[in-house]
Amino acid sequence: IIKCHLNILSKTMSDQIQKENENIDSALELGIIKCLHDSKRLSEFPHVTKNGEWLTSEHGRWTAGFFVGMIWMSGMVKDDANIYQTAESWAKRLESRSFDCSTHDMGFLFEPSMVRGFNITGNKYFRDNAVQAAKSLASRFHRKGLYIPAWSPEEDLSYLGLAIVDTIMNLPILIWAGRMAGDQDLCKIGNLCAETIQAQHIRPNGSTYHTVDHDDETGAISSKGTHQGADNESCWTRGQAWALHGFAKISIMTGSKEFLTTALQLADYFLNRLGNNILPPWDFDRSGEGQPRDSAAAAIAASGLLELSKVSGDITYADQGRRIVLGLIDSCVDFEHPDRPGLLMHGTVDYPRRSGVDESIMYGDHYFMEALIKLRYP
Ligand code: GLY
Repeated sequence: IIKCHLNILSKTMSDQIQKENENIDSALELGIIKCLHDSKRLSEFPHVTKNGEWLTSEHGRWTAGFFVGMIWMSGMVKDDANIYQTAESWAKRLESRSFDCSTHDMGFLFEPSMVRGFNITGNKYFRDNAVQAAKSLASRFHRKGLYIPAWSPEEDLSYLGLAIVDTIMNLPILIWAGRMAGDQDLCKIGNLCAETIQAQHIRPNGSTYHTVDHDDETGAISSKGTHQGADNESCWTRGQAWALHGFAKISIMTGSKEFLTTALQLADYFLNRLGNNILPPWDFDRSGEGQPRDSAAAAIAASGLLELSKVSGDITYADQGRRIVLGLIDSCVDFEHPDRPGLLMHGTVDYPRRSGVDESIMYGDHYFMEALIKLRYP
């Protein structure tokens, strides 16, 4: 009788997993269809939806790499040379941005587009562009303060000396490029900036400050706070997601136990605040009724948790990553309207400025697709 019960249980579990995998495959297929459709119909890079259509830009803002990265991923899933050609032609539009020294966003722009392109094709064009992008990023390094300022003071004077936690996601390209080009300085800058973020942005309870402002002369900390979060002592949810994902990646690249410990601490904070929910509020300290949610933070965290599980060997993080992805498929994917631009609904760009609230966002779509692929093509 016991054996019979065990057989039934095991069959029920495998039916459940099969059903979940079918849901993942359906979401991935929809993402590929949408992305390829956009790659043909759009003339500029998509950024965030508004009134049911993508807002686009020729320059690519800081999100162009995610669109190119999604086309590359679509090509990988479909094993299709024509899709790779499409990805290549979009990636080439970013070439001039590799000399952009005005932003920290070079990893966001060039890792999904050029590093991924190089990994897939072996074409040195992509490698050289990504290495150039890393050099432009490194040119921003503050050698006294050991941080990379996020934005340009030419845009806003208050950006002078301002570091943000998101930068952790832009550091792996420095280490990658340093190894590719045999440039130890790039690797060193990547490591030092990660140590600075670890020391300055993370609170003892594992939550994060979005911003740390520095005296540009001395590099010393002048204040800590937020740009996109609710208040200076709150935890902006996407910042926490970037941090956990970024430290997971950088611990894999460097083999650093300290970065891994930090990634685990950040992930535990994220998961504790998320509880049994799927869609986190835009700021963990603004979780009440009517507060906008941020599906992009959930997708970024889920993809990072799948990495963290591999590097830590702790299956709990993979289970949580899978739980979040399955929940996002249920709550944020509109299978009824395949023509609707955007894959993942209910993201929030910047609630304090009421910008991009309850929309699809390129980075939400990108990390969601990445997580779907990690689950089905481990
Ligand atoms: N600054 C990057 C973001 O909005 O997540």
